[in-house]
Amino acid sequence: MGHIPGTTIDSFKFLWEQIETEARTLVTDTRDALAVVGALYVCRKVFAVTSNIVEAINVHLLGQLRVDWVETYGPWAVVTGSSEGIGRAYAYELALRGLNIVLMSRNERKLTKAKNEIEKDCQVKVEYIVVDFASDDQQELYRYISEKLADKEIGLLVNNVGIMYDYPDVLLNICRQKLWQLIHVNIGAATMMTHMLLPQMVERGKGGVIVVSSGSSTQITPQMTVYSATKRYLDYFIHGLAYEYRHTGVTFQCLIPFYVATNMTGYSENLSKTGILIPNAVTYARSAVTTLGKSACTTGYFPHTLQLWIANIVPLWLWMWGSEKLNNSLRKEALNRLAKKAQRSSSKGTIAETAGES
Ligand SMILES: NC(=O)c1ccc[n+]([C@@H]2O[C@H](COP(=O)([O-])OP(=O)(O)OC[C@H]3O[C@@H](n4cnc5c(N)ncnc54)[C@H](OP(=O)(O)O)[C@@H]3O)[C@@H](O)[C@H]2O)c1
Repeated sequence: MGHIPGTTIDSFKFLWEQIETEARTLVTDTRDALAVVGALYVCRKVFAVTSNIVEAINVHLLGQLRVDWVETYGPWAVVTGSSEGIGRAYAYELALRGLNIVLMSRNERKLTKAKNEIEKDCQVKVEYIVVDFASDDQQELYRYISEKLADKEIGLLVNNVGIMYDYPDVLLNICRQKLWQLIHVNIGAATMMTHMLLPQMVERGKGGVIVVSSGSSTQITPQMTVYSATKRYLDYFIHGLAYEYRHTGVTFQCLIPFYVATNMTGYSENLSKTGILIPNAVTYARSAVTTLGKSACTTGYFPHTLQLWIANIVPLWLWMWGSEKLNNSLRKEALNRLAKKAQRSSSKGTIAETAGES
């Protein structure tokens, strides 16, 4: 067979042209595909942002539908940790809406004061139960509470009681007793109170259970590790219940406030100054109560919702780094204040001793 000159070269050229054409088509196709993926991603983001804004407007800014609270939930509300702070302010808001209130906390003097104020302003019945949710005898504690609440038709349970460390710190600087208190008060109380009162709500086909979690549970928060972990428990707890009891007519809500100026934040002067981002308990509760039945999970307060949006997009490493820096400086502030307080009281003691001697 004779060799046809130029055949190899021609077929290679032909092949190369083919490859080039294919590649160009591929690039165009890939570019088109990427453009579609990009467009879908942008649409998703725009949709997420828009629905967040619409939900925030609906939850926080549009007026609450006129709700007959007694009719919707039942005649009594139990609010744990309600002698002061958010619990007391929330109880007051419920009383304004016509619900009778059972207050629960340790200090009888503060409870009596709260009871008298609410009764005077709101013309509802207010009772209280003096309890320590950190009690050593947990079984006896809930037997006692259950006995006290036995004759009441409880429509709403607000699992508000909660404690933090004295100031932010790492695990090994927190004493064992405090850790048990955190477990019993932050986790135990909400779990056992709900277990006690949910059956009657399910039976009646109406009622509401609220937990007060915390913005610190949205991501891992060093130097508040146990506190934020107990709050994360509450998030999971209430969302799980909402699913398990979704056909019962009972409303479940998780409130996730960021900083609110109360006794709990009293270790820091900066966190005790109220402003838009750090409301006082009354402002917070007034806003939070209007979100019940409108949102299953909310900060309860619009400026905190803006904080939550930021918290949700901040990468975890940055959140943890920022939390550690913030909590280190809050601890320093708290320790300085404690040292100054100790100095003042020791100098007062010296003056008193000197006065006694002369
Ligand atoms: N303040 C904030 O920045 C913030 C932020 C996010 C979430 N939260 C959550 O909001 C909830 C309320 O906090 P708050 O700031 O209002 O706290 P708070 O001002 O310290 O009030 C706590 C309430 O709980 C009661 N209490 C404390 N330990 C108790 C115990 N062992 N047994 C029974 N009652 C007890 C206290 O009354 P007695 O002393 O009379 O017992 C008081 O009525 C908590 O769950 C907290 O984790 C607060």
